[in-house]
Amino acid sequence: MILSQRHLFDIPDDVAYLNCAYMSPLLKSALEAGTSGLARKARPWEITPDQFFSGAEEFRTVASRFLECSPDCIAIVPSASYGIATAAKNLPLKKGQSILVLAEQFPSHYYAWQRLAEERGGKVKTVAWPDNHDWTAAVLNSLTSDVAIAALPNVQWTSGGQLDLVRIGEACRKIGAALVLDLTQSLGALPFSVGGPQEGVQPDFAVAASYKWMLAPYSIGLLYVAPKWHEGRPLEENWIQRANARDFSSLTLYDENYDARARRFDMGERANFALLPAAVRAMKQLLEWKVAEISETIGAFNRRLAAAAAGLGFSSPPENLRAPHYLCLRRGAPIPRNVAENLAREKVFVSVRGSSIRVAPHVYNSAHDADRLIACLKQYANRA
Ligand SMILES: Cc1ncc(COP(=O)(O)O)c(C=O)c1O
Repeated sequence: MILSQRHLFDIPDDVAYLNCAYMSPLLKSALEAGTSGLARKARPWEITPDQFFSGAEEFRTVASRFLECSPDCIAIVPSASYGIATAAKNLPLKKGQSILVLAEQFPSHYYAWQRLAEERGGKVKTVAWPDNHDWTAAVLNSLTSDVAIAALPNVQWTSGGQLDLVRIGEACRKIGAALVLDLTQSLGALPFSVGGPQEGVQPDFAVAASYKWMLAPYSIGLLYVAPKWHEGRPLEENWIQRANARDFSSLTLYDENYDARARRFDMGERANFALLPAAVRAMKQLLEWKVAEISETIGAFNRRLAAAAAGLGFSSPPENLRAPHYLCLRRGAPIPRNVAENLAREKVFVSVRGSSIRVAPHVYNSAHDADRLIACLKQYANRA
């Protein structure tokens, strides 16, 4: 269990910030790393060509530890949608085949698949919301032979329901379906592994925007690309992805070869001197805390919150079927749309997503923050 780490963040005492699933606060140390990175642009003569590569390689190495994969399998992307578009550009889909998504899936992990289905004469097949909260069983039932691509998250973002990706990965392999994961609402707060060559999840592609549970700045993320796709087509053709990029004076000796492995999928201008060091600093802090410990600490916090909210008539999925870090509270009557604004006036910060109040704490939250949320929720208890 991790003791409160609030001192490492710039969070005023009167702010109960329970909204990491919206956007995490930046660690003071990450802000410092990012600020001094940004300041380097004031003195470009001090920036050497090798620094266009070293920061990116460090990012890849640190990021790979969250997926237990080789750094060679990590590409640097600006957003989840960029990674998903990369996957959609490379995966085959034949006429009549399906792409499987969940009910209420996040738009960045939906529109690209809708477009691909439209272009190739396929269809998007949606897993219906399971009344028994069991998203894994619902997905397994839907993985029929027509599915060519399963486009899924680890955590369904409007319910907090957790998917058992090891079982789903096995089922995908049995029917020959590709597996594309959006880990934005889980990586950094929920242990994950791509697995070995013969077992485990084995996704084809897995993306995470890093500004939530990875505690990084906005506009930076990682894309895991399985080795079998390393010869694929990147979304853009830029100079830094090419094999000759390190020789700045010879860039116009155009090289048809790409840099090694997943590096070809990197976004243009990926050598971001402000974002990369801030993201690396945040990831190193997460690794120091350990993802399993983070999950356990936030999980205990949410367990207590769920019990207190239940006393006010709010329900949440059973603990064995929801992600520990991600609590969605519902009640019989619809949630008023202005709940989040009303709570924000009390300096208690949550989100409303779908028909849930979404509570997303982290290691900077205290029991006092939880008490303040529960006090605010009392006015919505059992009200029609
Ligand atoms: C599940 C999920 N995926 C992805 C994103 C971010 O997507 P993008 O990076 O394309 O803006 C969010 C943001 O809320 C999200 O909740």
